[in-house]
This record gives sequence, structure tokens and C-alpha cells, in this order.
Amino acid sequence: MTEIENKTFPDGFTWGAATAAYQIEGAWNADGKGPSVWDAYTQQKGKIWDNDSGAVACDHYHRYASDVKLMGELGLQAYRMSISWPRVMPEGTGAVNQAGLDFYDRLVDELLEAGINPWVTLFHWDYPLALDYKGGWLAEDSPRWFADYTKVIIDRLSDRVTNWITLNEPQCFVGLGHHQGTHAPGHKLGLAKALRVAHNSLLAHGHAVSVIRAHSQLPASIGWAPVGNAYTPATNSPADEAAAMKAMGAVFDNSLWNNTWWADPVVLGSYPEEGLKLYGDAMPKIGPDDMAIISQPIDFYGCNIYTGMPCRAGDDSGFVDAEMPSGSPRNLFMWRVLPEAIYWCSKFLSERYNLPIVITENGVTCHDWVSLDGKVHDSQRLDFMTRYLQQLHRVIDDGVDVRGYFHWSLMDNFEWAEGYKHRFGLIHVDFETQQRTLKDSASWYRRIIDSNGACIFDESPHAAPQMVEDALIQ
Ligand code: FCB
Repeated sequence: MTEIENKTFPDGFTWGAATAAYQIEGAWNADGKGPSVWDAYTQQKGKIWDNDSGAVACDHYHRYASDVKLMGELGLQAYRMSISWPRVMPEGTGAVNQAGLDFYDRLVDELLEAGINPWVTLFHWDYPLALDYKGGWLAEDSPRWFADYTKVIIDRLSDRVTNWITLNEPQCFVGLGHHQGTHAPGHKLGLAKALRVAHNSLLAHGHAVSVIRAHSQLPASIGWAPVGNAYTPATNSPADEAAAMKAMGAVFDNSLWNNTWWADPVVLGSYPEEGLKLYGDAMPKIGPDDMAIISQPIDFYGCNIYTGMPCRAGDDSGFVDAEMPSGSPRNLFMWRVLPEAIYWCSKFLSERYNLPIVITENGVTCHDWVSLDGKVHDSQRLDFMTRYLQQLHRVIDDGVDVRGYFHWSLMDNFEWAEGYKHRFGLIHVDFETQQRTLKDSASWYRRIIDSNGACIFDESPHAAPQMVEDALIQ
């Protein structure tokens, strides 16, 4: 890397951490909450690693106040949380469960009192089971159901919350949940129906944006958080760089695992031609107003990014996957550790969509446990975070407007079909006792936040835990 002139991140850059309701709250049937598709799916034997569930998870529903205190110890400026739709509306539509809504009200107050800005995701996959029985995302009414739920949340929280994220990773809840059937609700719909589900979820996003704009009590900043599907050039030749950019704009198979099928409608107001050709007759019927509804202006492009795929130029001016050397770094999920992914993906998204970018998730799963000295020495996470943030700084230096970074995750939690196999947290959770332990990475992240990123260039991450401890003792 060349000499870095301005080592800090831009003024006003937001440093946060993220979680999702089903992954941490537990209390799956407390105080009038209705079941979600994840409550049902985790009951089926063999679906989840070790047959686990989020029924208790981190018990955050009961421990939110002490969890917010820990966020304060981390020095977080912002916290990305999600709302459980069936906790607030047990049937998905109609009656509102005041006790459920009160929980989020208390949580938001607690955060604001601690000086932490809440960023609220409306849908992070825990869909009301009652609505799935009515056809779920396949039903024509599904975008309206989401709009009505959004209105309930906005009426209650928008006097304090200003940052909103509509959908988290439609690629996953549509692709894995409704096409491949490996996530809740476990439907294996054919391509045509999966595309209808995708279209309805995009309509839901658009309706939600309109509802927030029309009813927010404070000026709102609205975005969404799809998967950042990253490709990185195998070499720094212009041809390989162009190939990576091309790959990130492509719709190349039926997996729905891409950027533009989702983001072109949302930001540009049309489906990409390449996808329309590929999907052909499987395309759902699109109503005359649909694209206008879907493409309501948003304020930022949230991007969840963990890994990437190296590629190089192909013969026909296309792109082909490039091999990585044997033994290249991977996380416990076996996802490639590829720091340049955050650089290239941010660059691509910014060029194509011309919106400010917020990294709404980035993190790593490692083999973490509490050591004999009572601490969690997750040195790989410190290193991962440092490398990815250096690449994020690089893209900002290139002129890309990146406004914030949310580490996934605040604490270890229920990792969907993988149960408790994976630990992504800055805070270790003992799921037996609910004991929380700040990992070494929490100290390093605090140091990063306090220095607005400068320390990633001139300090060793591995010295950070001791430094923070010394500072606390003084
Ligand atoms: C993302 C999800 C998040 C978490 C991380 C590891 O796909 O949005 O809930 O599971 O992966």
C-alpha cells in the first residue's frame, strides 16, 4: 500500500455493531409474541446444526439493559438491531401486541440514554408464521402486510429513531428460504414462484420506504441491506479489474445470488436486461406501477460483506473464476478471507448506484473460547477487522462515499441453519449461563472507534487488549 496521508476515516463516520432479533432475543413466546417461521422451522429435526433454535439464544429480551451497558464499554456510536415482526404483530396483520412494542420502546430509550444511535432493520427474516400460512411472500397482499407493519413501527419509534433499513439480505430469505429451502420457511419453490417472491419482497421494500417518508416524525434516513456479492480481480491488470466489475453486475444463474437483480429495480427502477433474458418465461407479471413503487428514493446503500470470489478476464471479454492458492485463508464457515472484497464491492456499488454506502455487516467466525486466564483471545478477528478496514479506507481514499461500518456481530448468537456452531461476536456468550465476556477484538474495536480508525495503520492490533486494560486501570 502506498503512503497513507489521511489516516482517519471521514468526520462523522459511524462506527457500530449489528445483531438481528431472532439471533439474540430468545423469549420466543413471551408476553404475547406470535411464532415466526424460524420458530417453526427450528422445531423440525435435522434442519439446524445440533437441532438448536433461537428459543433462548442470548436472552437479550430480558438482558437488553446490561447488553446496552456492554455496548457502552465498547464505545459504540451506533447499534443496528432488528424488530421481530411477530413480537409486535402476532398474526402478522391486525392486532398489535403492545407488550412487544414496549420492548423496542425501552430498548431504544436505553440506547439513546447511553449515547448510542439505533439503526433499525424492519425485516431480518423472522416472518410471522400466521402470514406464511396465508401464502407468505408469495401472496399478492404480502407487500401491503409489510407496509402496515412498518406503519405500526414508525408511529411508535420514529420520534426517536431516524435510521431505517427495510430488508436484510433478500438474496438469503428468498433464495435460501423460498428457493433452495435450506432456511426458514424451508420452501422449495420453482424459479417462477421464487421470482414472484423476490418481486413481492421488493414491492414490500418500496411500500415501506413510502410509509417511512410519509409518517416519520423526524427526518428519516432510509436504506436497505442486501448481500454485497463481491468479486475481486486476480491480478491488478486492467482486464482483470474490468472482469471483476463485470461479474458484480452480472445475473448469471438461477440461484438469485447476485447484486443487480435486486438492486437495479430498487435504485434504477428496472430489472437488468441480462436477467430478464435468462429468466424468460419464469418472470412474474409486473404491474404498471410496480417499478415506481419499488424504486422510491433511498438515502444510503447498506451492504453486508464478508467474502468474495477472485476472478479474471475470460476469452470472450467476460469473466471466469480464478483459483486461489491452496490453503488460502478461510473462516470457520469456509468463506474466503478476502479483504479486497470490501474495496471492490464498495467501488462497484458506488459507481453503479451513486448512493452513499454503509457497511451494514462485516465480520468473521472463528474458534473462540474462554481461555484459562478468563479472556477470549480472538487474534484472527482483530487481524480480519484490521485488514478489511484498511481496504475500506482505501476505497474512501479513492473518493467513494462510505458513511459507516457495522461489525457483525455485537455478540455470539444463533447462526440460522448453523445453530451455535459459529461465533461472530465481539462479545463471547456462554449459552449455558448467559455470561458475557468481552473478547480481545472488543478492545481493539474500541480503540479503532476512539481513534476514528487511525490505529489500524500504526498500531499492532495484538497489543490493543493490554493497552485498553491499562487505560481502564488508571
Ligand atoms: C448474514 C446475515 C446475518 C448473519 C451473518 C453471519 O448473512 O445477515 O444475520 O447470519 O450473515
